[in-house]
Amino acid sequence: MSLVKKIFYSRIWEKRLCPYPFNRLEIGVENDFVPCCRDWLNLNQLPKHTNTLEWNGEQAKLIRQSMYDGNFKYCQREKCHAVTFSFWQLVLVSFLGRFTSKFPYYSLSLKTLMDIAFKKTSLSEGPRHITYTADFACNLKCPSCRTHHVGNETSHLSQKKFNDFFILSKNAETILFSGGEALYSEKSLAFLRALDSHTHPKLKSVTLMTNGLLFNKVMWQSLGNSRKLIRRLMVSIDAGTEEHYQLVRGGSWKQLLENLSLVKELRLKGELDFVSWQFVPRKDNFRSMNEFVTLSEKFSVDRILFQTFCQWEQSSLNYNEQAVHLKNHPENEEFQKLAFLVKKRPKVTWAISST
Ligand SMILES: C[S@@+](CC[C@H](N)C(=O)[O-])C[C@H]1O[C@@H](n2cnc3c(N)ncnc32)[C@H](O)[C@@H]1O
Repeated sequence: MSLVKKIFYSRIWEKRLCPYPFNRLEIGVENDFVPCCRDWLNLNQLPKHTNTLEWNGEQAKLIRQSMYDGNFKYCQREKCHAVTFSFWQLVLVSFLGRFTSKFPYYSLSLKTLMDIAFKKTSLSEGPRHITYTADFACNLKCPSCRTHHVGNETSHLSQKKFNDFFILSKNAETILFSGGEALYSEKSLAFLRALDSHTHPKLKSVTLMTNGLLFNKVMWQSLGNSRKLIRRLMVSIDAGTEEHYQLVRGGSWKQLLENLSLVKELRLKGELDFVSWQFVPRKDNFRSMNEFVTLSEKFSVDRILFQTFCQWEQSSLNYNEQAVHLKNHPENEEFQKLAFLVKKRPKVTWAISST
């Protein structure tokens, strides 16, 4: 059968597809195939995996097949805010992606588009985008995330996993550091300091998701050549006032503001391409959402992102008591009123589900 006929009979253009399972991989603590945000998937419905780096492993293939089948059965679509595309939209976005950096995570390579056209679940090319969340070590112990401090000495990250990450990352175009705190983790810092265009020839940008408390001038200088590759910062703050900051994160507000001024300076000088501030509202902090947006206006931020508070296993909080975004929460009405005001403000991205 000719190529054109094969594509025609696949009827791929009738489907809507999420590009993430075809170009992204998260290397996390668990050995699961996670192409997007862990909280957006129904991982418990998938067979357990033993090797994270199986880009074409059983879990990955099942998730891709669910896109071709159109049932997205492993996705929690009410929580996820990823965009889905028709096949031709993906072709267009991938073509435009060659000329603009506007949508780096949506564009796919020609090889991957061909794989999709034939509804292949095993892809001929590795991931373009890697999210690294395998190291839990952090300078903070936020109650929404964990019950106790995880220092470098108690981090469970194995050298093998770290080496696997290093090898896989050599072909990536973007790397996002999250999980623990990249600027605190000795392994992540060593990795960041070793990064350059020789070790990672395809790498276009590194994103740090950081609490910002260690992002000072000395730290920035110490990153050496890799500063040219660290183009994007996502600073998690979760508070618009010092009082709320103490309650939800526990770090120094003064230090944070000082470091945020440095971030602003780097953004204005063009040393950073993108700065996002993040806020996860819950009972203890939602009343300072508006102040948070006002504060961000003084810091030349590109985006203000509000995200859903989730039930994380290691959290020390009572989820139902804190989850004001849920309709049945006694303070949900007040939360909704504030949300209405916040959503309308410039640069705000509201990615909060009510379930
Ligand atoms: C766990 S931190 C790790 C990366 C980095 N150290 C930082 O602070 O951004 C990543 C993000 O998760 C958010 N977070 C913490 N607990 C959460 C929860 N229970 N549900 C949803 N997001 C949470 C934080 O606010 C932060 O934006």
